[in-house]
Amino acid sequence: MLDTMTFTKAFGALCGSLLVFLLIGWAGSAIYYIGPGHEAGAEEAYVVDTGADTSAGSGEAAAAGPSFDELLASADAAAGEKVFSKCKSCHKVDGTNATGPHLNGVVNRPAASVADFAYSDAMKAHAGSNWTPDNLNVFLTNPKAYAPGTKMTFAGLPKEQDRANVVAYLSTLQ
Ligand code: HEC
Repeated sequence: MLDTMTFTKAFGALCGSLLVFLLIGWAGSAIYYIGPGHEAGAEEAYVVDTGADTSAGSGEAAAAGPSFDELLASADAAAGEKVFSKCKSCHKVDGTNATGPHLNGVVNRPAASVADFAYSDAMKAHAGSNWTPDNLNVFLTNPKAYAPGTKMTFAGLPKEQDRANVVAYLSTLQ
């Protein structure tokens, strides 16, 4: 049976060995200390060139998937026209307004700029910016988050591919 004394001994042994390791560590770093003058050489000794591109940028892009610009570059305007069926109940593309402003030439158009449409204050607050593909991407992900209080009562397009396709379709409208 283990009694208190056995525990005390075991604990003492553990502390003792930790102390020994600590001392060995100190002694080791004293012997093998690499001064500032030697650091470059020491580093070189450990560089293993795997030939892989280790730049942080490409690593991040690979982890996060293709960027919106990349998706847009290969987006399908015909598929975007189908996605646009979700927008048609409020948006016309014949130059006239409906529940929402017409979306002819909306890509790169200044926000809240259709003269005869009564925008909400939330949308007017964006009047200084243009509907670049990137801004459309953020807006269409979650309209209420982009413009809190917007009159556009639409939940958003959760799929990035749908947003890229619909922006590609909108770019075809003059
Ligand atoms: C339920 C109606 C409704 C639906 C559905 C809808 N919108 Fe809208 N949209 C609006 C309204 C209303 C506005 C004006 C918002 C404001 O003034 O706050 C608007 C504004 C916009 C604007 C800004 C236009 C400008 O001139 O600044 C864009 C871009 C837009 N919508 C794109 C879309 C797209 C793309 C879809 C489909 C994926 C869509 N909307 C679906 C009602 C809608």
